Amino acid sequence: MLLTLQSPAICRNFASAQTVGLAVIGYGYWGPNLVRNFAKTEGVEVVAVSDLDPAKLAGAKRLVPGIQQTTDFRDLLTDTRIDAVAIATPVHTHYEIALAAIKNGKHVLVEKPLAQTAAQAQHLIEEAERRGRVLMVDHTFIYTPAVRKIRDLIRDRVVGDVYYYNSTRASLGLFQTDVNVIWDLAVHDMSIIQYILNEAPIAVSATGVSHLEGRPENLAHVALFFERNCIAHISVNWLSPVKIRQIVIGGSSKMIMYDDLEATEKIKVYDKGVTVNGSQQDVHQLKVGYRAGDMWAPHLPAKEALETEAEHFVACIRRGEVPISSGMSGLQVVKILEAACKSIAAQGAPIPLS
Ligand SMILES: NC(=O)c1ccc[n+]([C@@H]2O[C@H](COP(=O)([O-])OP(=O)(O)OC[C@H]3O[C@@H](n4cnc5c(N)ncnc54)[C@H](O)[C@@H]3O)[C@@H](O)[C@H]2O)c1
Repeated sequence: MLLTLQSPAICRNFASAQTVGLAVIGYGYWGPNLVRNFAKTEGVEVVAVSDLDPAKLAGAKRLVPGIQQTTDFRDLLTDTRIDAVAIATPVHTHYEIALAAIKNGKHVLVEKPLAQTAAQAQHLIEEAERRGRVLMVDHTFIYTPAVRKIRDLIRDRVVGDVYYYNSTRASLGLFQTDVNVIWDLAVHDMSIIQYILNEAPIAVSATGVSHLEGRPENLAHVALFFERNCIAHISVNWLSPVKIRQIVIGGSSKMIMYDDLEATEKIKVYDKGVTVNGSQQDVHQLKVGYRAGDMWAPHLPAKEALETEAEHFVACIRRGEVPISSGMSGLQVVKILEAACKSIAAQGAPIPLS
């Protein structure tokens, strides 16, 4: 199933020389990364930051001297110096804050995942379209040089037919309270798969378990099925003694190993695979040959993903364009997350995706 992620709405143009006034809502773990990257983006002024906890806001002044601070994000929505907001609050607050911002005419960048339900995500898309505002989701990985390189290698047929995508994301914590490990970690793989394959899965199956009473699942295995002979397995775990961030992609021509924890050589491309010789008539006579060729590690630019992403968000506001990680792509990912949770409740039964 090929993906159509472009929204039909055209965002209203922004005067090209005008500085984009920006505010960040949520200044916990991820919010400071947004402030830091927007502060160095040309044509942007980071005007304000909001967090419920005033103690957290203290650090923002070190990044942007003179930044305005508030514990009530609503103060920012009527501020005419602010054209756009970036939302880095817990997932259960995304919908309410994003909707209020859009209704007040702000362009919005929301952290992954876009919203808690597909219905909420759909509503945000409609409201943004109606008002000609940019709605973008922070699917960070698709702005990394590594994932962009993998997409090129697949698009240029270097990998051949993609047979599988296997991902492991494990570490000790951070245990979340409002989302399970799939919404926290597998969400990255779902956005990466959408971007590199440009194809939507047709069904999802997942199993998961919680080891802390009353808490969401901290360990899960997700399988995504595609129309053709390609499968994705995603293993996510908050209860691992070591941190792992590894993806293996198997193709008919090449295989890729992507280790995000590697400082250099994050991607390795292997000229390895199998060939089958003999008569198709008699499967017992078929001989499997193993091809073990060279490995190469493509050079990757050192640019931080959030820097590229901040530039892209601002460019979309200025040009009236739909972002790569649009509200629509956020909606597709939320649909898969919802289906995965349904599957967990049904002990791994496959859930079709429309
Ligand atoms: N893109 C990525 O790689 C990445 C990485 C980590 C987290 N995230 C996302 O960022 C978001 C925040 O995650 P985090 O790890 O920073 O969480 P966090 O709990 O460390 O920070 C969230 C902050 O939001 C504040 N907050 C809550 N409600 C608020 C409100 N109404 N107004 C203002 N502030 C409010 C909290 O006080 C807290 O400081 C989540 O959606 C998460 O999925 C994305």
